Amino acid sequence: MEHLSARTFNWIDDLRSGMEAGTPSSAEEISDVWQLKNGRTVEIRTAWPDDAPLMQALVRNLSLRSRYHRFFYPVHEMTPDMLARFTRADPLDAVTLLAVIRENGKELAVGMAQYVAEPYPERGEFAVVVGDAWQHMGIASRLLRNLVCMAWEAGIERIEGDVLSENWAMRQLLESMDFMLGPHPDGTYLFKAWKELALPTWKCAALAAFGAQRGRTTQPAPGSRL
Ligand SMILES: CC(C)(COP(=O)(O)OP(=O)(O)OC[C@H]1O[C@@H](n2cnc3c(N)ncnc32)[C@H](O)[C@@H]1OP(=O)(O)O)[C@@H](O)C(=O)NCCC(=O)NCCS
Repeated sequence: MEHLSARTFNWIDDLRSGMEAGTPSSAEEISDVWQLKNGRTVEIRTAWPDDAPLMQALVRNLSLRSRYHRFFYPVHEMTPDMLARFTRADPLDAVTLLAVIRENGKELAVGMAQYVAEPYPERGEFAVVVGDAWQHMGIASRLLRNLVCMAWEAGIERIEGDVLSENWAMRQLLESMDFMLGPHPDGTYLFKAWKELALPTWKCAALAAFGAQRGRTTQPAPGSRL
């Protein structure tokens, strides 16, 4: 069990300069790799501009229900604006994490989570989705844990999101991660979920991997679920 000790990694500058230079090698180092119970290997990593087709394919293949739960209306695909924002990782503005598997030598996105800082640093709006065939395997929970780590390390004070009241799966997931759930000003069909960010009580696996690449160590701490 490991824990990041402090907000000391220079991953934010590395990620930003890698993205600006068009060589997101540091983004590749920010990753978390593990095996599902079915033996498939999943990697969580930051998204970069080349990932637009992967993300689009994930959304196009969602069931109507999952699409509605994620976007609140039955979008068929992501708009160019959404793709542009979600593929440009800047921890002080927006970060998307992708969960990918390899099939026939190619990557396939099976889930994604993102936050958009609005405004930084007070608030980050988050969302998550996992492909229907990949749900109930722990992917969303792992995506969100890594996302919370990144948001906290980026100095964001609170992350929050809107969730449909009928979305019991998301409600359970958020409760299991100690998010607060409360009424939404737009009506009872939605609820607000939020979390004041503090040092995460779980292992920040993706950032720990980045730290390891840089020869940094992490400190042990209880409570890790990753
Ligand atoms: C909600 C969603 C993200 C969960 O993804 P997932 O990868 O299946 O979730 P996990 O496997 O990590 O589950 C984590 C926990 O969430 C809860 N959970 C997940 N799916 C559930 C379901 N169908 N019913 C009840 N609880 C569920 C459980 O507490 C679970 O823990 P457990 O496995 O120990 O029981 C996924 O169903 C999804 O993508 N839905 C469509 C999009 C969406 O609703 N996004 C949220 C809007 S922001």
